[in-house]
Amino acid sequence: MFKNIIVTGGAGFIGSNFVHYVVKNHPDVFVTVLDKLTYAGNKENLAGLPSDRVKLVVGDICDKELVDELVQKADAVVHYAAESHNDNSLLNPEPFIQTNIVGTSVLISACAKYDVRFHHISTDEVYGDLPLRDDLPGHGEGPGEKFTPDMRYNPSSPYSSSKASSDLLVRAWVRSFGLRATISNCSNNYGPYQHIEKFIPRQITNILSGIRPKLYGTGKNVRDWIHTNDHSSAVWKILTEGKIGETYLIGADGEKNNKEVLELILKLMGQPSDAYDQVRDRPGHDLRYAIDSSKLRNELGWEPRYTNFEEGLQSTIDWYTNHRDWWEAQKTAVEAKYAKNGQ
Ligand code: NAD
Ligand code: DAU
Repeated sequence: MFKNIIVTGGAGFIGSNFVHYVVKNHPDVFVTVLDKLTYAGNKENLAGLPSDRVKLVVGDICDKELVDELVQKADAVVHYAAESHNDNSLLNPEPFIQTNIVGTSVLISACAKYDVRFHHISTDEVYGDLPLRDDLPGHGEGPGEKFTPDMRYNPSSPYSSSKASSDLLVRAWVRSFGLRATISNCSNNYGPYQHIEKFIPRQITNILSGIRPKLYGTGKNVRDWIHTNDHSSAVWKILTEGKIGETYLIGADGEKNNKEVLELILKLMGQPSDAYDQVRDRPGHDLRYAIDSSKLRNELGWEPRYTNFEEGLQSTIDWYTNHRDWWEAQKTAVEAKYAKNGQ
């Protein structure tokens, strides 16, 4: 089993939650976090973790020499590092192409060279979007009405197309260079340590700052929410038991439209249900995501545990309420950037 793993992007939202998960549940594993600490990375996300279990290397996944040096000493790489925000990719796609495509190619080349196990973290957005349930004959439960691993790639934004490109590179390296890799495509995560540019933390910290929450368009767009702890357990399962060359979709049957999510946040935070602004919609805004995770559940026996969305949202609200020092200094700049864009 793996003793020395590299977690790229381990100082970001989902990566740091995975590092906490590994430290807590797998005491014999040492984690090297490789993270550039961009605006989205924060070493405070790893605060309190013991130095004999976790080491942070501040560096770029595009740095071939550094990656070569680290990979040859590891027995697995779990690759989270990415530019991850759709809205940013619509303003400036270039860093997405560099980190998500070029960076992934540097990592998989090194892993193939040293025969190191690679797990690629990707997104459900590579499949594009789905019609709303009401517009489907099976109301979202019929064949082909959720994302499945063999569906055609059809990404919409520079972010999702850069992730799709990276998935295809991984598949090519498996076939042509014998890379021992798996891929997972997960739906929208929520939980602690998520950057306040993203939907749920943006609205929670808006309310905590006395700013009205902002809903894109009418709020009919559906996302399939999963608690980040469930994403972590699924990734560990795939890393340790997944079949090389396979793609697994990770989801917890958490479909909700944005208006419903916002109204629940408002209710849990003691606000009137209409205390928000409707703002300019995102160009090319994907309508609905929905994951069919039966392959992961049936073949590897994985089950999500944090499936009570209201409870998970309440604990996320509590986390942002109790960690103002973690986000407050960034709030003005994040909102100014959105305001400039009419959002
Ligand atoms: P995030 O933006 O919170 O964190 C990304 C991390 O990567 C940061 O710590 C950043 O410093 C680091 N990073 C960026 N560029 C780097 C580079 N060139 N070299 C080294 N480190 C670099 O992202 P997240 O939301 O935690 O997403 C992590 C991964 O999960 C991404 O690959 C994303 O595509 C995928 N994903 C995210 C979600 C979601 O809901 N957030 C869902 C499915 C998949
Ligand atoms: O599906 C997985 C993807 O989920 C990941 O690959 C991405 O990295 C992650 O950022 C997320 O993408 P989304 O674009 O779905 O997430 P975001 O938090 O930006 O927006 C969620 C929904 O909320 C989306 O429909 C847009 C809407 N939204 C977003 C913001 C920031 C609003 O209505 N208001 C907002 O202020």
